[in-house]
Amino acid sequence: MANFAPPPGTADIFEAEAGVWRSIENTAADVFSRYGYGELRTPVFEYTEVFQKGLGNETEVVQKEMYTFEDRGGRSLTLRPEGTAGVMRALSNTDVMNGVEQRVYYHGPMFRGERPAAGRRRQFHQIGVENVGRCAPLIDAECIAMLCTFLKEIGITDFQLDINTRGVAADRAPAEAVLREYFAKHLDSMCPDCRTRFERNIWRILDCKQPECGKIVADAPDYVASFSEDSRNYFAEVCAALDALKVPYHVNPRLVRGLDYYVHTVFELSHSALGAQTSIAGGGRYELYLPGEKRAVPGVGFAAGVERLIMVREALQVPAPAGKSAYAYLIGLGSAARIANLQLADMLRKEGVPVALELEERSFKAQMRGANRSGAQFAVIRGDAEMEKKILIVKDMNDGSQSEIEESQIFNYICQRSNTK
Ligand code: HAM
Repeated sequence: MANFAPPPGTADIFEAEAGVWRSIENTAADVFSRYGYGELRTPVFEYTEVFQKGLGNETEVVQKEMYTFEDRGGRSLTLRPEGTAGVMRALSNTDVMNGVEQRVYYHGPMFRGERPAAGRRRQFHQIGVENVGRCAPLIDAECIAMLCTFLKEIGITDFQLDINTRGVAADRAPAEAVLREYFAKHLDSMCPDCRTRFERNIWRILDCKQPECGKIVADAPDYVASFSEDSRNYFAEVCAALDALKVPYHVNPRLVRGLDYYVHTVFELSHSALGAQTSIAGGGRYELYLPGEKRAVPGVGFAAGVERLIMVREALQVPAPAGKSAYAYLIGLGSAARIANLQLADMLRKEGVPVALELEERSFKAQMRGANRSGAQFAVIRGDAEMEKKILIVKDMNDGSQSEIEESQIFNYICQRSNTK
């Protein structure tokens, strides 16, 4: 057979898995709506500047991973690498600038040109939320707690929550000076990437995954101590609120997150099933400039990677939701019986009964095989003789028993005897 695999880093999702996706998406909608969040669907591509401005030109995503192309008019467009920037672009048409809070959630495909690996795709899917317009530590804590509730409700337990503070813009220079003085002494023993980061974005050294840098980073000085008192108090209040909500967390000063828009609280969730290096969800508080606005709008939010949630669920052996298999399989012998079966299937389906049937001319034996394969509890059989008497022969595949039923009674019969309805 020809190999028509989809492009690397993408995947086809068939019903067996799509059912799990739907149940995760439905649980997300259910949990988030309890916290007052409504759905927002934004385009999968935006003008490129939405991401350049939103995520920051210096970020790895913007520099190396975006799928960018020109439209016919020569304008640069980009497939969204994440959801926050597009959501903020959409909310710029609302009154968030006036301090009115907007709570939105979204789910859908995101695109990053990364090297594909287990749990790393070029088209992946996020479920995310953004709480925009206000800034307060308790809002951050509520958002984190909601993420934990969502994970528990989809069957993911024992995850680890890491949190940290990035302070605000004014905190960065003094903290950078502390880090620069320390890392300058160790640069010779660090990886080439970190030497570049030292010049371009020293914060990224903190989340370097190379073993030679790990020990040096672990011994780095406490740069948060150089943040303003206000920023440190803000973070202390987030932690106190998480304590009050009984949400366990681990303060991790190495957590800086890869996107430039973060201020104050940042957080990431991981699970031992995927290893500590692979986040299943991440987010934080941010300040983003809306198109044409001089003032930044505050927000807090997160996104979880659906593929990774599913990998954890599989590792934890969370059962997949049961699919809907056909209750009845209609077998027709002769063209009149087939048409009558098509009408009967239509009637039953409108009543909510899943039905399968054979619509081509096939032998009785072949149709019985179809009935067996379908997993339906009832095989409903009719040929010319049954057509004449306006009856159906119904075989209960569970016990092999067979009955003659008037056609008008079939719905009631199925409902009464069905063990799946
Ligand atoms: P992020 O950490 O870049 O944050 O992505 C969030 C989640 O998306 C990750 O934790 C991971 O589960 C999933 N993910 C990211 N890249 C891939 C990939 N290549 N393959 C599979 N899964 C992936 C954001 O995107 C921010 N917009 C989150 C946010 C919302 N912050 C504030 N509001």
